[in-house]
Amino acid sequence: MSRIPQHFIDDLMSRADIVETIGNRVPLKKAGREFKACCPFHDEKTPSFTVSPAKQFYHCFGCGAHGTALTFLMEHDHMEFVDAVEELARELGVEVPRESGGPARRPADDLYAVMDKAADFFRQQLKGNKTAVDYLRSRGLDGETAAGFGIGYAPARWDALIDHIGATEQHLRQMSACGLIIERDQGGWYDRFRDRIMFPIRDARGRTIAFGGRVMGDGEPKYLNSPETRLFHKGRELYGLYEARLALRDIPMLLVVEGYMDVVGLAQAGIRWAVATLGTATTGDHLHRLFRITDTVVFCFDGDRAGRQAAWRALESALPGLTDGRQMRFLFLPDGEDPDSLVRKEGAAEFEHRVEKAVPLSDYLLEHLQSQVDMSSLDGRARMAELARPLVGRIPEGIYRDLLIRRLAGTIGMEEDRLARILRGDRSADARFRPATRGSPAPPSARSSLVRQAIALALHHPGAAARAEIPEGLASVELKGIPLLLELLEICKDNPDIGTAGLLERWRERPEHPHLLTLAATELLVSEEVAGTVIEDTLGQIVHRAGPDRRAEDLLSKARGPGLNTDEKEELRELLARGSRTASRDHKSR
Ligand code: GTP
Ligand code: MN
Repeated sequence: MSRIPQHFIDDLMSRADIVETIGNRVPLKKAGREFKACCPFHDEKTPSFTVSPAKQFYHCFGCGAHGTALTFLMEHDHMEFVDAVEELARELGVEVPRESGGPARRPADDLYAVMDKAADFFRQQLKGNKTAVDYLRSRGLDGETAAGFGIGYAPARWDALIDHIGATEQHLRQMSACGLIIERDQGGWYDRFRDRIMFPIRDARGRTIAFGGRVMGDGEPKYLNSPETRLFHKGRELYGLYEARLALRDIPMLLVVEGYMDVVGLAQAGIRWAVATLGTATTGDHLHRLFRITDTVVFCFDGDRAGRQAAWRALESALPGLTDGRQMRFLFLPDGEDPDSLVRKEGAAEFEHRVEKAVPLSDYLLEHLQSQVDMSSLDGRARMAELARPLVGRIPEGIYRDLLIRRLAGTIGMEEDRLARILRGDRSADARFRPATRGSPAPPSARSSLVRQAIALALHHPGAAARAEIPEGLASVELKGIPLLLELLEICKDNPDIGTAGLLERWRERPEHPHLLTLAATELLVSEEVAGTVIEDTLGQIVHRAGPDRRAEDLLSKARGPGLNTDEKEELRELLARGSRTASRDHKSR
């Protein structure tokens, strides 16, 4: 998405001073090695917002907000990522290079201007066209709402927009880059949108980046959307988000619906907190945007099969974003209704009542899993745990996940701690292998797995991680998180100056980002001096415990059963010898 080179972001993060960036916006007080303030993201009287110069990271113990200097600019100043990078670069007095080379901002600026011109033109055309105005009236839309959404009309001509904007080569090139005109096979251009009601799609700053055009009547296609352009990526955009933010100072909740007319119809009824995806499923990008603005997202779907399928897909893409304090709910509408038709029929109060009763994500998840297995049988319940495993694994560590595991355990009828270990894919959860831990709940330290500890350590102490010796065999350990851990270690080694914030920025656009932020915000109580030793120790434990132990267990059980061949006996002897070495080393290091 961003064409800003990675090395520049690395460099920026190593030069930036988060204390200064935040300090320019929030009064910070020094408190030991950190800085404190009343949190700018929630109301509080006593400061629980802390900024760590060492980690270049902020964290609020009250509301859980956390991130890097870039995150802060995005959340606090409501900036897009690229703008945040530019702002930070500006504060440091450096120029942002672009991979495409040159001062790439100018042409995009021109495209925005062309889109705005087109939007103005369509709005003007609506005023003069009785059929279009009548169509909107027939759909119950009033002038004020239509104006609020900038709704317009594209004339029933092949060259209305081209005539209006101009047919010079430069204009044509720009309009084409905006997806407003189409080239004919035999040469020449024509308007993409003709005789349609035009819905401008606007970005966070209110600039028009695309259009949706609806036929009046039954033509095909019903909606014609702008193609993907430099300005418009439909998997990221949400129709109505700009308008919602314009209308409301505070947005306690956002409703995600399917259609343009749903957003507009709801807004007219007074529900001005609805947004629509643009004919695509909800993506992680969408969710990221939504949760920057609100804590509660309600997805609205048709009650039919397709709606249920879409809802489950939305749930799956939502899991990585489920950090503490965020809520997601699902609203299923009666068959044959969409939000626009329903709010007209029932009124806003009744519709809001439905939203209040929407099913929480956890209920929906449990319900859905239960419906897939036979809960009356032991096998069915074990299968439910299996089905839940990949889903729970995608939820960031935190209270939300703990609560979900508790409820799952209740539903399945299994001890919570044991289920937690099974969900982590930890074979030692199987009591046969570890009689010593049977029945006794694992201490909190054991609950966060070694791999996660190692990831957290590397994040908190990248310098120590860069120097740590990586034990042989780490790469072949089959545990969730190992690829991530290896990648982290490798980046630390390749960039010995990278800090916590720099590492986090490397992951910004990847699904693990929220998870890493959470780990970075966790208090580790490991000082920089001993970090190297602790990291090596942890890595060693991962290799010796997870890898060979599992293999040894398999071999042992085979020995008890069908027996081992010569090679296997040798391997087992070797594994057991290695195990005792680790045990004695563990002993020494205590
Ligand atoms: P109305 O029929 O005017 O009430 O529209 P709606 O907003 O209720 O749309 P509908 O429920 O039919 O479709 C939901 C969304 O899917 C629309 O808002 C569009 O984004 C998209 N969509 C619907 N039909 C088409 C189509 O023919 N082509 C494309 N590209 N997208 C469509
Ligand atoms: Mn509709």
